[in-house]
Amino acid sequence: MSQWRSLLLSQLLCFVVVQAEAADPEILRPRVPDELIEAARAVTNPLPATPDMIAKGKALFEGKAFCRACHGQDGKGFGSDIEPGSLKGPLPRNFTDQEWQAARKDGELFWILKNGSKGTNMASFIPQVLTDEEAWQVLLYVRSFGRQ
Ligand code: HEC
Repeated sequence: MSQWRSLLLSQLLCFVVVQAEAADPEILRPRVPDELIEAARAVTNPLPATPDMIAKGKALFEGKAFCRACHGQDGKGFGSDIEPGSLKGPLPRNFTDQEWQAARKDGELFWILKNGSKGTNMASFIPQVLTDEEAWQVLLYVRSFGRQ
C-alpha cells in the first residue's frame, strides 16, 4: 500500500514538474507566416553535424554574428552576461528549451536568419552578416544546445 502511495506521489510530482516546465504556447507559436511555413519546413540543413562544423558555428555565434550578445553564451536567451533591462519586446529564445527545439524544423530557423522575427529584436542576418553556409553552421551550434 505505501509502495503504491509513493508511486502515486512520485507521478504526481512528475506531473507538477512537467507542468511547471511546459513551454509557453507563445514561444512555440510558429514564427514563419502561415502561407510560407510549409515550404520553409521542407528546407533541410545541407551540412553534417560533425564536431568541426559545430565548432565553426560556435565561433560565428560568439564572434562576428554576435548571437551570443542576446542568446547568451549558454544559449539560454538570458544568460548571466545579459542585463535584464537592456532588451525590449519578447526575450531572445532559450535554445536549451527541448520543447521549442522539437517544435521547430531546421528550415524554419534558417528562414528566421534570413527574414528576422517581425516586431522583435531578432533581425535578419543573411546575407548582411552570414552567408547561407555560415548560417547553417550556426544552426548546427544552435541545435547542439538542445542536446546538453
Ligand atoms: C539583438 C538581439 C539578438 C541577436 C543579436 C540575435 N538574436 Fe535571435 N532572437 C532574439 C529575440 C528577441 C528572439 C525572439 C523572437 C521571437 O520571439 O519571435 C530571437 C529568436 C531567435 C530564434 C528563434 C526563432 C523561432 O522560430 O522561435 C533563433 C533560431 C535565433 N534567434 C537565432 C539567432 C542566431 C543564430 C543569432 C546570431 C546569428 C541571433 N539569433 C542573434 C534576439 C537576438
